[in-house]
Amino acid sequence: MKISLSKVTKTFLHSSEKIQVLDDINYLFESGKIYTIVGKSGVGKTTLLNIISLLDNPSSGHVCYDSIVIDKIPNKELPKFRQNNIGAIFQEYQLIDNMTCLDNVLIPLWTNETISKDEAKRIAKLWLSKLGLKNRISHYPMTLSGGEQQRTAIARALVSNPKVVLADEPTGNVDEESEKIILDIFRTLADQGKLVIIVTHSKTVKDFADISLKLEEGKLVPNEYKF
Ligand SMILES: Nc1ncnc2c1ncn2[C@@H]1O[C@H](COP(=O)(O)OP(=O)(O)OP(=O)(O)O)[C@@H](O)[C@H]1O
Ligand SMILES: [Mg+2]
Repeated sequence: MKISLSKVTKTFLHSSEKIQVLDDINYLFESGKIYTIVGKSGVGKTTLLNIISLLDNPSSGHVCYDSIVIDKIPNKELPKFRQNNIGAIFQEYQLIDNMTCLDNVLIPLWTNETISKDEAKRIAKLWLSKLGLKNRISHYPMTLSGGEQQRTAIARALVSNPKVVLADEPTGNVDEESEKIILDIFRTLADQGKLVIIVTHSKTVKDFADISLKLEEGKLVPNEYKF
């Protein structure tokens, strides 16, 4: 799955002040690659990721998934489209407090009629196990550490085998060993032809990317050459 952004802008209105966060962004993200986006706090990275993950609309411009122009998809079909194609890992995790770790990870499989309940549980447990959470499946988010919550959110994003993985600071709260495990998982997904876009402040993650980008003054620009 390729994602193209054409002439994407985003402006927020705060009191009577107009804040232009994204300014005429044109970019093509290709499948099978890992992209990282860095940039100062408040520059608009989450805003951009929300637009790419179809949770927010650009103020102007278009987002396309392959040849599908997103603004042509009827609103009521968007959740299904997102569910079929996107695994999103949010900066604030967004786990459901009154559901266990396992139940949180099962959410994306609820609407998948091709997978039985037992099979869904098996897949969810497999992902939790890969992410070192085998012994935490019956815990509620409040009883998990920050890093464990983050890894649960990663398992939930990947359980439905999405074509596109969008991650906002996915290793912000984990130790080096977990970071390596997570990066290895992302590499495997890219090798399978998936598109992975990661917003990060971590140098390790940035250096791991195939393509490193920077958001600066509303523009998405190449970050630096890798030698
Ligand atoms: N709903 C909103 N209304 C008004 N302003 C907003 C809104 N959402 C974001 N902003 C502003 O847009 C700018 C970009 O925010 P964003 O969350 O995208 O930054 P970020 O690059 O992800 O920062 P961080 O690295 O701290 O997560 C900020 O100045 C923020 O105040
Ligand atoms: Mg952010």
